[in-house]
Parts: sequence; structure tokens; C-alpha cells
Amino acid sequence: MTPDHGPLLYEGKAKRVFAADQPDRVLVEFKNDATAFNALKRAELEGKGRLNCQISARLFEMLEREGVPTHYLGLAAETWMLVQHVDVIPLEVVIRNVATGSLCKQTPIAAGTELSPALLDLYYKDDNLGDPLLSESRLQLLGLISSQQRLEIEQLARRVNQLLLSFFESLDLLLVDFKLELGLNSAGQLLVADEISPDTCRLWDHRNSDPQARILDKDRFRQDLGGVIEAYGEILKRVQGV
Ligand code: TMP
Ligand code: ASP
Repeated sequence: MTPDHGPLLYEGKAKRVFAADQPDRVLVEFKNDATAFNALKRAELEGKGRLNCQISARLFEMLEREGVPTHYLGLAAETWMLVQHVDVIPLEVVIRNVATGSLCKQTPIAAGTELSPALLDLYYKDDNLGDPLLSESRLQLLGLISSQQRLEIEQLARRVNQLLLSFFESLDLLLVDFKLELGLNSAGQLLVADEISPDTCRLWDHRNSDPQARILDKDRFRQDLGGVIEAYGEILKRVQGV
């Protein structure tokens, strides 16, 4: 089902954003397209849009219940979400609880090392530049955010990490790392935006000790492990409490 929507405002790799009935709201359609390595690898995975939309909805609802401001307003259909319009800050905030992925490619830190406190890094969101990791001085040079906003972003992201870590832990899932995007609404309030899904989180199954079988996130696609939709379906089942 497609809800009534206005014109297409923006199309990204995994979502389309349409105007809604009020200027401060937009409708987001989650697509089945999967991409990795800055879209060098692409596939169409039937059912992924619905799974990520439903998983994100449950996670935004949990964060809202805990008092974290997000752009989420509600579901509009199986693959459609109504959200507050925000000016997205072009930063990807990555929090890592366990070392893996690019951290282990770029540093000698051994895969599997627990990171406590969690490691927080900011990347500049620009596909043409390959979303580069920012140093504090480059962040300042870019002038995208004030030093007050820098602190607020870090506090908010660390709070989201704590809430997601314990929520997933209660579902027998380890939140290895994840990426957040933040935006400012028309009142200037900082909100968690974009999506929180197995496309943007690494999640390992505590019920499975096999290092490949336990992976229930987009690494299944990145590493050609197969069973991507089945893994995302398992995450949805658990976040729904089924
Ligand atoms: P990384 O280890 O490849 O840097 O990824 C860290 C986390 O960020 C991981 O949970 C996947 C997520 N991520 C995105 O959501 N989008 C991206 O473009 C990248 C590179 C990572
Ligand atoms: N999101 C990025 C892409 O679509 C990279 C990734 O998630 O691996 O290419």
C-alpha cells in the first residue's frame, strides 16, 4: 500500500523522501535496494524495505519512550514512515562497543576487542568523498556544528548507545557498533534521524557462537554470507517480542 504523498524531495541509496500533508513532516519510503562499499556492491533484496522500516519504527518508539528525541512520528504503511522534517547534519556518528569492521582495517586493534568506553567517531557524510573519518580539527575547520552542538551530539549518541545496548541485550543480541544520523527540526531541536536497522547496526546473536552464523546484519550482504533477509527477519521477530 502506498500512502497519499506529495512530490519526491530526495532519493538516497536505501530510502526515498516525499513531501507530506504539512511542511514540517515528510514521508519516508524504505526501498529493497542494498548497497555496500559506497554502492560498489548493489542488490535488490525482496522484503528488506519492510523489515528495515518496521525494525526502525520499533527502535524509534523505544527511544522515544526513554525520552530520546527522534524524527519518528509513526508508520504510514508497511514500508512507509511519517517523520518530522529535519535539516540533516552531514555527519555520520559511529559508536563501537566491540572492535571490528573499518576500525580493524585502519588500526592494529584486534577484532573482538571490547571498547569501554565505547569509541565514538564522526565521519563526513558525502558519498563522493567516501564518507571520510574526521579529526576534531577537520570538524572545526568544516564549521558544520558549534562546539556546544558537538557536545550535545556526543551525549545524545552515547545515551542512544546505552539504551540500544541494553534493549538488544534483553533480546540476546550484541550491539557491536552502529551509525546514527542527526538533524535539526524547525524549532532547532536536535533529533535522531534517518534509520536504525540491521543496515546501520552490527548485531551478533548471543544464541549462536559460530562467528559467521551469529551475524544478523548487513555484514551478511557485505561478506556474501547469504541469508540476509532471514537474519533481518529474526531481528524484527525479536524487537517485536514475538
Ligand atoms: P565500519 O566498521 O564499516 O566503519 O561501520 C561501522 C558501523 O557503521 C556499522 O554498524 C555499519 C555502519 N555504517 C553505516 O551505517 N553506513 C555506512 O556507510 C558505513 C560505512 C557504516
Ligand atoms: N552504506 C554504505 C553503502 O551503501 C556502506 C556500507 O554500509 O557498507 O555503500
